[in-house]
Amino acid sequence: MKTLQRTLAIVKPDAVANNATGDILATIEANGFRILGMKMLHISKDEAEGFYAVHAGKPFFDSLTDFMSSGMVVVLALEKDDAIKAWRDLMGPTNPASAAEGTIRKKWGSSIERNATHGSDAEDTARFELSYFFAGYQLVH
Ligand code: CMP
Repeated sequence: MKTLQRTLAIVKPDAVANNATGDILATIEANGFRILGMKMLHISKDEAEGFYAVHAGKPFFDSLTDFMSSGMVVVLALEKDDAIKAWRDLMGPTNPASAAEGTIRKKWGSSIERNATHGSDAEDTARFELSYFFAGYQLVH
């Protein structure tokens, strides 16, 4: 059975700098997601470390949080049936080199770090990530 779900998406600094934001938003809407909230932000290193706390200690953590705080991002609250998996499928795998034709990371990603977009990977992380950037009153209701 399909369940209506919410997920957190981020258009990363590489995609914003490459003028890919509009294309990615159009792809999101064309694939049936409802955009419940959207903000363009320049997050600090500290805010990036808090967001990616689950990866603290991994070899790529410092570089990832430098990159995520290096320019503007667009954070999105998305809703759809099985939104977490649907958004991950639309993005393609973390490494754009393995991504299939038609996925966002194939089109706009250039490395495992500069991979254009982020998406929550499970229901508990989606709850944490949505609440990291959006208060309840800031979402369509
Ligand atoms: P994202 O979906 O934002 O979640 C964590 C990010 O860490 C991931 O996308 C990648 O951009 C980045 N990253 C960098 N190196 C690696 C790696 N070796 N394995 C997984 N993620 C990595």
